[in-house]
Order: sequence, then structure tokens, then C-alpha cells
Amino acid sequence: MDDLFVRASTCTRCELSLTRQRVVVGSGSYDAALVVIGEAPGKSEDESGLPFIGRSGQLLFSLIEEETGLTREECFVTSVVKCRPPANRTPRRVEIEACSLWWDEQVERFADAIMVTLGNTAARAVLKTSAKIGDLHGQVIQLGALSVVPTYHPAAALRGVPNVTAMMRSDLRVVAALLSGKRS
Ligand code: URA
Repeated sequence: MDDLFVRASTCTRCELSLTRQRVVVGSGSYDAALVVIGEAPGKSEDESGLPFIGRSGQLLFSLIEEETGLTREECFVTSVVKCRPPANRTPRRVEIEACSLWWDEQVERFADAIMVTLGNTAARAVLKTSAKIGDLHGQVIQLGALSVVPTYHPAAALRGVPNVTAMMRSDLRVVAALLSGKRS
């Protein structure tokens, strides 16, 4: 385990540390070709310390594997907020800002990866924008050497928001094209 995981696992920079069980720092290698970043851990993630192991994660990684060929193990997976907000509420700005210390350190470790952000919260935090995911999704936005492709959060598809799964698939095909460009 690297030192960032050890330091982050005892973080008390915001009030989420009072109610969380585990800090969900992330999983995977910093050499991964694809970085996936969500909003915040849910109940299963809080209990296990592992990102995206609940229903959202199952849907997400089946779509990623079908559209890009990459497995969960070939991705680095994390969220902009590393501790579960009570009752899965949306993380507050002050919590996102407190947690950005860890994300900024993680971003520095990816050389020229492709990154997928999931939903409004992750896209806005990573891209420092107030734009909506409906306007951002499927675009390729350069953040230094990183190519960022925002898409919807799989939880929206599970809630039955119309067309989200189809739009995620189409955004992931943009990712697949970037990945094959890097391989050739
Ligand atoms: N949703 C997220 O954004 N992150 C997780 O780890 C789980 C669900």
C-alpha cells in the first residue's frame, strides 16, 4: 500500500470523518490506462473500504468492459470525496474542498492517463466548472496531460433516468477510441 493510502486512511479534515467507517481511497494502479472517478462512497464501499463494489459499480464496470474491453482491475477507481456522506447525500462544497488534497496528490501520479468522471459532482470538482453533466458528457477535455471524458453517474441509470445507459455507452465509446489511439 502506498503512503498516500496510509495517510488518507486516518484523515479528519472534514466532518464526514465522524460518521464514516472506512476511508475509500481508491483501488488499482497509478499506471492504469483508465482512471474512473465518482462522487463519494456508498454503504457497501464504506463498510469494505473499496470503491464501487455496490450496484452502481457492477453496472459501471460491465459497461466499461463491454465498450472498452478494460476490466475493473485494469482501471484506477476512486471518488472525489473519500468518505461516505450520511444517508448518501450529495457531498458539500466544504467536504469536496477538504478532500481535494488527496485527489490533487492522486492526479499528480497519473502520467498521461484517460480519465472518466461520473456525474455532476465529479465533473465539476475535477474540471473546476459549474457546467452540467448534460452539457459536458462525451467531450474530451485536456487537463494537462490527462484526457478527461465526463459521463453520467451509473446511479442515475439505476434510478431509471431515461437514456442514461445509452449515453454512458456512447461516452465510453469516445474513451475506447482514445485508448486505441494511445495503443497504436
Ligand atoms: N458512487 C461513487 O461515486 N463512488 C463509489 O465508490 C460508490 C458509489
